[in-house]
Amino acid sequence: MIKYKKKIVFSAIQPSGNATLGNYLGAIKNWRDMQDEYDCIFALADLHAITVRQKPKELKENVIRNYALFIACGIEPEKCNFFIQSHVTAHSQLAWILNCHTQIGELSRMTQFKDKSKQHTENINAGLFTYPCLMAADILLYDTNFVPVGRDQKQHVEIARNIAQRFNSTYGETFILPEPLIPKLGAKIMSLKNPEKKMSKSSLDEDSTIFILDKPDLIIKKIKRAVTDSESSVKFTENETTGINNLIVIYSCITNKTFLEIEIEFENKGYGFFKNKVAEAIIEKFSSIQKKFDLLIKDKDFLEKCQKESTRKASEKASITLSRIYEKIGL
Ligand code: TYM
Repeated sequence: MIKYKKKIVFSAIQPSGNATLGNYLGAIKNWRDMQDEYDCIFALADLHAITVRQKPKELKENVIRNYALFIACGIEPEKCNFFIQSHVTAHSQLAWILNCHTQIGELSRMTQFKDKSKQHTENINAGLFTYPCLMAADILLYDTNFVPVGRDQKQHVEIARNIAQRFNSTYGETFILPEPLIPKLGAKIMSLKNPEKKMSKSSLDEDSTIFILDKPDLIIKKIKRAVTDSESSVKFTENETTGINNLIVIYSCITNKTFLEIEIEFENKGYGFFKNKVAEAIIEKFSSIQKKFDLLIKDKDFLEKCQKESTRKASEKASITLSRIYEKIGL
């Protein structure tokens, strides 16, 4: 196996629709902060996105928009490798091999499969079921050590590790065993309308989700409408999933203030005042990203150049791993 100077980080995000505050705090912000210390590889998982029916033209546009958006969020294509999953064919090739080394029983236990097949009863396709094998391929192709993800993806990283372990014990040392990196804070940002549920880009109630590209008025409106409980003090209650806990976590992630500092700052101030400050903090964070995005999305040449270069680098690395695997299994 190749020895690398820095530990390798891989993560990906689906480019369907617009990225949310949850994606930002649970993943992208942490990706951004890892670029100096690690050899970082990030992807837009467009092959995963088609497990749910997409409109082709919209998908193409969303890929370009999300590519520009994540660069605007601080992903630096000069520092890391940021590419589009379907452009590197080794992902699908390894996914097939891993399909043949994954048990139906373990795939049936995936909570995302159970949730998504309830949501999309008209299209419970095989891709939705074997989704974790493609995700394992993404991770294992790059000899990944760490996978920074939100809490909802932890189970998928664990199955990737199990598949790798089984493969290694059958064919000898082939894969590095990846570890999930879950942030201490912000690993699961909840819906603003239902704090029992994850904030999600596909929620039917638009007020439940803040998108990175939401304009200030909309952010203020959504935060004002966020559910809070009947009490009125800004206090974090351990082990509870309340609306106020969720807002405190969001505010803490953005301002880097501790819960105690937040409680002191808003003592006797009431929810209305606190919500204004939360909205202001989000607006401040996202407005500079939005300005960068507006410039980048017009610079098609730059985006194309970055994509081409990262596809080249990723393909080179992935094909080395794939040859190693072909050799092991006798292909
Ligand atoms: P996706 O596109 O659903 O989400 C991308 C990242 O955002 C995190 N996230 C959240 N974090 C906190 N609070 C939330 N409400 C929230 N919503 C989403 C997710 O945990 C994730 O880290 N299958 C993956 C994409 C993928 C991938 C991979 C990830 C494909 N291949 C390989 C890691 C490694 C997905 O659908 O993420």
